[in-house]
Amino acid sequence: MQRESRKVSRRRFLKEATGAVGAASALTILKPRWVRGAEKEFGVVVLLGPPGAGKSEQSRRLTARHSIPIISTGDLLRDQVRRGTQLGLQADTYMKAGQLVPDSLMNPILEDRLSQPDCARGFILDGYPRTLAQAESLDALLKRKGLPPHIILLEVPTERLFKLLTGRRICPRCNRSYNIYFQPPQKENLCDADGTTLVQRPDDKEEVIRRRLDTYQRETQPAIEYYARQGRLVRVNGDQPPEKVAGEIESKLASQ
Ligand code: AP5
Repeated sequence: MQRESRKVSRRRFLKEATGAVGAASALTILKPRWVRGAEKEFGVVVLLGPPGAGKSEQSRRLTARHSIPIISTGDLLRDQVRRGTQLGLQADTYMKAGQLVPDSLMNPILEDRLSQPDCARGFILDGYPRTLAQAESLDALLKRKGLPPHIILLEVPTERLFKLLTGRRICPRCNRSYNIYFQPPQKENLCDADGTTLVQRPDDKEEVIRRRLDTYQRETQPAIEYYARQGRLVRVNGDQPPEKVAGEIESKLASQ
């Protein structure tokens, strides 16, 4: 029943995206050949979930399997901060406070990134949308591109999120992520890939984590309800080992 309503709303999305053609044929027309090949591929995958739910971890697994780029809005913003751009300086204040960066700063960076040629066949969105307004603006953008999204929500209990976030360590050189509790590096505090000393993200301090979780409840929950109301939300249990989470995502994507 739930799957049926997802299909119906996906058809509606396609119909609106293409105008005149029937939804079923639009689905075929809009899917490039690689999508219809023996190995099923997925155009756009939107990964939603609270801070620390494993969106980045699962994005990496999806990109390895399906060869579509990861567009992480957190990484796009952190790159601006690292490069010391005007936009990065402004965004940094919000990020350090555990608040969302305003759409006036966020949306142009995202749209610019999505207009790059590597996104033409599809992409994985990690960290966007985070508000109802962003969800609506993403729908409009994807309709223009003719790419209907798969919306995946990673669900993890709040008590576990604290441990996932306080335990996270990042390699500043290659951006690889570890967790001192669940996925430790082979040598303490050193990246397995390049031996660089690992660092903690400035927003992974306990008081900032609390604010990020509050922001998620207040700002992002309405976007999730928006997708749920339309029957487009696919819920995945994020509270299991990463490979199991990845398996559940794959099988739910394959059954859509
Ligand atoms: P962003 O970088 O997107 O942070 P986030 O959403 O808070 O998510 P995280 O990156 O903290 O967690 P994750 O879900 O990716 O988990 P991960 O895979 O790393 O955003 C940062 C800031 O930028 C925001 O606060 C905001 O200010 C701004 N921003 C970003 N997008 C914005 C937007 N659209 N609009 C406005 N502002 C925006 O996993 C966490 C840890 O757990 C890791 O250590 C990992 O190794 C481990 N782990 C993962 N999965 C498992 C598992 N299954 N079992 C055991 N360990 C696991």
